[in-house]
Amino acid sequence: MDRIAITGGARLMGEIPISGAKNSAIKLMAASLLTDEPLRLTNMPRLADTRLLARLLRRLGTEVVEQDGENGPETILHTREIVSALAPYDLVRQMRASFNVLGPLIARTGHAKVSLPGGCTIGARPVDLHLEALRALGASIDLHEGYVYAQAPRGLIGAEIAFPFVSVGATEHAMLAAVLAKGTSVLTNAACEPELGDLADCLNAMGAKVSGAGTSTIVIEGVQRLHGATHSVIPDRIETGTYALAAAMAGGEVRLTNTRCDFVDALLVKMEEAGVEVTRHDDGMTIKRNGSRLRAVEIETDPYPGFATDLQAQFMALMTLADGESVIKETIFENRFMHAPELSRLGAEIAVQGGEARVRGVETLEGAPVMATDLRASVSLVIAALAARGETMVSRVYHLDRGFERLEEKLSACGASVRRIAGDGEPED
Ligand code: EPZ
Repeated sequence: MDRIAITGGARLMGEIPISGAKNSAIKLMAASLLTDEPLRLTNMPRLADTRLLARLLRRLGTEVVEQDGENGPETILHTREIVSALAPYDLVRQMRASFNVLGPLIARTGHAKVSLPGGCTIGARPVDLHLEALRALGASIDLHEGYVYAQAPRGLIGAEIAFPFVSVGATEHAMLAAVLAKGTSVLTNAACEPELGDLADCLNAMGAKVSGAGTSTIVIEGVQRLHGATHSVIPDRIETGTYALAAAMAGGEVRLTNTRCDFVDALLVKMEEAGVEVTRHDDGMTIKRNGSRLRAVEIETDPYPGFATDLQAQFMALMTLADGESVIKETIFENRFMHAPELSRLGAEIAVQGGEARVRGVETLEGAPVMATDLRASVSLVIAALAARGETMVSRVYHLDRGFERLEEKLSACGASVRRIAGDGEPED
């Protein structure tokens, strides 16, 4: 398997264009199942996760064409008919978000058999809220041998769905199913993440009637059919935040383009509190830090607009070199500190207890071999390595490839010493 070698110490200078949001793109791709006309998605990221979902969609009957459009990479998805309503375990277990094809399949064909996604490294991550939402919309749901069997032969029916806590995936799933239901659905305590607004915009461009996305109450008036559309994927806020933190960690001056400051406001405020200089522009931001030591600050992850859990690992990397003790509270997932022991291999001082990590800043980090454990954890190791003395070798980089497009290229263009070492095909331990 591939590894990434990083030699720390270079300041970053230059510009990094941000790609389309992975976590939006994969839900938008699932939305293409809802119509027999083509859906054209522009500003598409090219990632292992989007390729994986394309594989599943092709099995279900979608023609997927990736091409370079006038404004960059785009994907055209055309599901003339659903040829199979089965999403098998081997594909769903590799990417949980594949589970979100369940709602569109029931909405379009009245039945589906979709594998349960199973556990994952950052926590148990059940799908009970997804299933409750689909039941509320009138689907009958049975679970056998690891599969969800869903039926709604007469179509789904609009319903009031009050989520007991905020779930991005369950809110998106309910929206994807309710757009073709008979009558009106009202989702309360809905997730407010920007990806929800993006999904609603795309569905509305396809003829759906969704209002309130981006607030905690979403109203969906079901329509009989949806049609084709062209939609541009929003910028990836996690990629944005990750490169902002990389620039702050390495020092220097980096301009992030093709993105939005409001998507990462909670992060930028904390970075400024720590002593990083942030200049906000219409199409992005400039991150600057010159030599001076950062201050330790506390963060607590929360649903949007709070501090994103998907940026917690990267922020922890930054805090390893800050002056003082930083307390990092993770409230979304129960097991999302797997990067802490790996950061400690580079010399960081981190004590984890339950959902809280205490990071006592050290003067220097030192390169070491480390192992990626999940997507965001792995990039936190890259960030730490940028400021570590000597070389850090990150293995299991397939995690990185799931969500960061051309990472080595983007960082190298700003002067970082990052290179990929192609694997010999042998699996790692
Ligand atoms: C999305 O996951 C993102 N994934 C995650 O990003 C992100 O960390 C998360 O939202 C929170 O922002 C995608 O969009 C593909 P949730 P999702 O449902 O939708 C519990 C990344 O690195 N829960 O908001 O799965 C759940 O276990 C990934 O790109 C239930 O208990 O997250 C968690 O504790 C990692 N039952 C909490 O809710 C359910 O039915 C919030 O999860 C659903 C969720």
